[in-house]
Amino acid sequence: MAKIGFLTSGGDGPGLNAAIYGGIIKAQDYGVEVIGIRGGYKGILEKQTMQLKPDAFKKWTWFSGTKLGAERLNVFDVQGTDMSEETLKNLKELGIDYLIVIGGNGSLSQAYELFSKKDLKVVGVPKTIDKDVLGTDYTLGFDSAVNGNTETIGEILNTAGSHGAIHIVDVMGRDAGHLALHSGNAANADMILIPEYRFSLYKVVELLKEKTKGGTKPSIIVYSEHAKPREDNELEYYCDPRLLKRLSISDFFATKLEELLKGYPIRHTVPGHTQRGAKPSPFDIEIGKKFGAAAVELAMNKQFGQMVSLKNGRITSTSLEGVTKGLNLVNTEKEYDKERLNAAIGGIGSGIY
Ligand code: F6P
Repeated sequence: MAKIGFLTSGGDGPGLNAAIYGGIIKAQDYGVEVIGIRGGYKGILEKQTMQLKPDAFKKWTWFSGTKLGAERLNVFDVQGTDMSEETLKNLKELGIDYLIVIGGNGSLSQAYELFSKKDLKVVGVPKTIDKDVLGTDYTLGFDSAVNGNTETIGEILNTAGSHGAIHIVDVMGRDAGHLALHSGNAANADMILIPEYRFSLYKVVELLKEKTKGGTKPSIIVYSEHAKPREDNELEYYCDPRLLKRLSISDFFATKLEELLKGYPIRHTVPGHTQRGAKPSPFDIEIGKKFGAAAVELAMNKQFGQMVSLKNGRITSTSLEGVTKGLNLVNTEKEYDKERLNAAIGGIGSGIY
């Protein structure tokens, strides 16, 4: 009987447990065995596995995080040593015929490398709250993180209404502003700053002054963690590497804004990892199960080197190679309003996920 190994790698996120559960159920239909690998690729090197029993696993679909654990490790470079042969050897010894990797860009690119250079029989499932994986319209965890952030911003709005300060909310999204844009838009943020568009600090100030003219209306600025100002002289100030070890870029932004707005009250919130730990939304649970099931189907049909993807509302697959070609970033011509510095209002032809 064939055996399928599941691993989750990189940052965790809501919907991962649902994907594993969907895979377990589909594997039962095919009559194949499944096994969980603990702690991502590292678990292969350490031969750390766990049983995946459908009844016991079902309840985990309701929780974020990953029951399997997930670490960031590159088997081609483990502290300078290429451990890819060891990876293949261990998989063989564990009796794993096919591997399903649930991960973001780094983990899926690694899966492709193992497929193309080492002939590993691997299939990928895209997950990341950043939604920045190429080749798919959706990555697991995104919807839950949007929901969580929208709630958080809403709660800030409740208190902001009583005082009239300008609130900056720093949200995740290492290279891409999708999470900031969608949650900021859903929460009616006044401004959304994203890494794909270098904003002008002075324009931000101008827009805020206009907004607060003569009144005490609260303003919410959603700041995608790596958004940067256009002015080069400010950039150096923003990106002092010693301070950035602990502070976020938006800390500097808040300080600068306070300076430029001459004492106007500025407040700053960083939801941080609450975003990755957000409660899985029904959408993430549903699509997670479908993604996991589709991955097993791809493996059983011997479509290795493929990744499950969502395209135009349908689950399909695409080559994992595409993931290695770059990132899925916000299209600032279509999705971003450069004048108002927030999400484009949309209309006929605009899309969601
Ligand atoms: O890639 C997902 C992500 O949540 C990013 O949005 C964020 O920058 C990063 O992971 C944080 O990673 P870590 O948990 O290692 O700090």
